[in-house]
Amino acid sequence: MTKAPDESPVAGELGRLIARRIALTGPISLADFTAEALAHPRLGYYRRALPVGAAGDFTTAPEVSQMFGEMVGAWVADRWLAMGRPAPVRLVELGPGRGTLMADALRATRGVPGFHAAVDLHLVEINDRLRLAQADALASFSPALAPAWHGRFEDVPAGPLLLIANEFFDALPVRQFERTPAGWAERMVGLADDGETLRLALAPGVSPFSALLPADAPVGAQAELSEPCRALAAAIGARLRRDGGWALIVDYGHDGALGSSLQAVRRHRAADLLDRPGETDLSAHVDFAALAEAAGTRSFGPVGQGAFLLALGIAERARTLKARATPQQRDALDAALARLIDSDQMGTLFRVLAVGDDGSAAPPGFPDTPLDPRTDVA
Ligand SMILES: C[S@@+](CC[C@H](N)C(=O)[O-])C[C@H]1O[C@@H](n2cnc3c(N)ncnc32)[C@H](O)[C@@H]1O
Repeated sequence: MTKAPDESPVAGELGRLIARRIALTGPISLADFTAEALAHPRLGYYRRALPVGAAGDFTTAPEVSQMFGEMVGAWVADRWLAMGRPAPVRLVELGPGRGTLMADALRATRGVPGFHAAVDLHLVEINDRLRLAQADALASFSPALAPAWHGRFEDVPAGPLLLIANEFFDALPVRQFERTPAGWAERMVGLADDGETLRLALAPGVSPFSALLPADAPVGAQAELSEPCRALAAAIGARLRRDGGWALIVDYGHDGALGSSLQAVRRHRAADLLDRPGETDLSAHVDFAALAEAAGTRSFGPVGQGAFLLALGIAERARTLKARATPQQRDALDAALARLIDSDQMGTLFRVLAVGDDGSAAPPGFPDTPLDPRTDVA
């Protein structure tokens, strides 16, 4: 039997569960499919897998080089100084992966007087195995900086906030739409005629989400919309308005442009969206304009990750590290720097958005404000 386009055999227990749900209740949105595939309490990808790093499915900026976390640490400490050194300050990371970014950020800010004493550390993570990895990565800062873990940002206690999210929003579900002659129709996950193969198809009729999508798009245009991203940005913005602070969001993304970006990756290679749910990473480009709008407070950027890191002094940091490195380490540092900042690597695809308002000028990195010299990581 030949396979129709967009069909894939149901593999594994989660795939069978999703197929049974669809058989009982009808087609589900791609957002519902993604929520099951990534966060199903027992079988979801982010509940079970150790996805980050060479042995996982993808590599992230903090895993490329310590310099990434160091620059983010300096930025966060700078914002704490600009806020008037509140104590305690809730330092929150969403989806900390292996804990590498936070460990590098804390190591780099040891010398900022009073900062570590003020920090109350909170990690938002749904993966128990990654929570253990994070505890290991941060062990040297305990007990003074022992983290508290939460499953949701909303459970972080009230108080002035410094929030970091690197490649977190891209893991939240998106809906997908296609423009038809009648209007925007939603792409749904249903079943093929065999009753068990997952299949993508457009829902009949015009989607009620049309009001949120461009009215003048041509037939055939694609669009995405993430309610969880907007809801989380709104919750962060409300906290920032109430308690003060800053959020730094780094991700690959766009500015509200049309297109479809939801992609599947397994073992560092592209995979089929519907194939092997629970064993495959699904992610979508982040709509930064929607995040900034939902946050409802002042925002800066997005700027390219390369420009942001250069403005914070990553090139100088690389020079300092190279001065005491072996020739082999120097080559590795050059390669890591290029990977983080070059525009044909992560430098422009990845973007940085800052959200917050303490009445000051733009924060460092947006675009030219220098860091407070007290945050020097050298
Ligand atoms: C793409 S990884 C990024 C990891 C890390 N920030 C880095 O840069 O290496 C996404 C992280 O978010 C966590 N995660 C995914 N979905 C989540 C959710 N709904 N709630 C909390 N954590 C989640 C994952 O377990 C993982 O730690």
